[in-house]
Amino acid sequence: MAAANKPISIEVWNPSGKYRVVSTKSMPGSRWIRLLTENDCRLEICTEPKTILSVEDILALIGNRCDGVIGQLTEDWGEVLFSALKRAGGTAFSNMAVGYNNVDVEAANRNGIAVGNTPFLKANGEKPVTWKRAATMEDVLREADVISLHPVLDKTTYHLINPERLAIMKKEAILVNASRGPVIDEVALVEHLKANPMFRVGLDVFEDEPYMKPGLAEMKNAVVVPHIASASKWTREGMATLTALNVLGRIKGYPAWGNPNLVEPFLNENATPPPACPSIVNAKQIGLPSAKL
Ligand SMILES: NC(=O)c1ccc[n+]([C@@H]2O[C@H](COP(=O)([O-])OP(=O)(O)OC[C@H]3O[C@@H](n4cnc5c(N)ncnc54)[C@H](O)[C@@H]3O)[C@@H](O)[C@H]2O)c1
Repeated sequence: MAAANKPISIEVWNPSGKYRVVSTKSMPGSRWIRLLTENDCRLEICTEPKTILSVEDILALIGNRCDGVIGQLTEDWGEVLFSALKRAGGTAFSNMAVGYNNVDVEAANRNGIAVGNTPFLKANGEKPVTWKRAATMEDVLREADVISLHPVLDKTTYHLINPERLAIMKKEAILVNASRGPVIDEVALVEHLKANPMFRVGLDVFEDEPYMKPGLAEMKNAVVVPHIASASKWTREGMATLTALNVLGRIKGYPAWGNPNLVEPFLNENATPPPACPSIVNAKQIGLPSAKL
């Protein structure tokens, strides 16, 4: 079915490379390309002008033989894609993102595919803000003037901010969400913004990204930006490097790096990266050993 799709436009690097790696999108910088091509990978970068590739598009990219794929968080990585990648001889996938709520990790485990992510790179700049611990989330919501949401998105955090919780927040509070859209019930948020003109929200992410729920775009007390929280050149190029090294490391049979919060050694432009996969979220489940740090 997929193979019958119209061909997808690609850009090929190092055509004679032994390992076939596909990136579903172009990524910032060139180090990630160099790291792959200098390590015997034939790299195919999808150049389709589409914002989001469908499962069928990605099946066509994977084709009959593919060692690893670099993907984006807008894509639906589940059984269909992981089993196709396995049939094509692949063992490696990496999301070019910190979160991986678009990935069915259990499906990857079943197919023996390593799933990489790009743990957040320590910001170079601002000092951290001060904080105090509260006993419950409700206490935080009642007391805080500014609430910034940073959880992973999973079933425990889906609609974490719901009508009941919005109702206990200060009328003039500021709510910020740069994690994942579905952490907030966006329909309820629009109603709350309408009813409470002094309540303000800053959103980097949206429930039906890239779309917004009706009414949100018109709200004067909502500031919206298009998922750019990690959009500095340094961060995005670093993420591209980590993504490529997750896929390359798995293809080369390297172990998983022991501490995904300490990935600086992979980012030094002037040194060869350590022989490890920087961040594999299902390393244990697929039996990938841990590198000795
Ligand atoms: N907007 C962007 O560009 C952007 C960039 C990076 C990360 N993100 C998103 O932000 C998320 C967090 O990133 P991170 O680097 O801080 O990840 P992290 O894994 O370091 O932190 C996630 C935190 O969520 C907490 N958590 C889990 N379940 C919870 C629950 N039910 N209630 C409250 N807290 C809960 C965990 O304890 C953990 O402290 C990512 O998973 C990703 O979805 C967005």
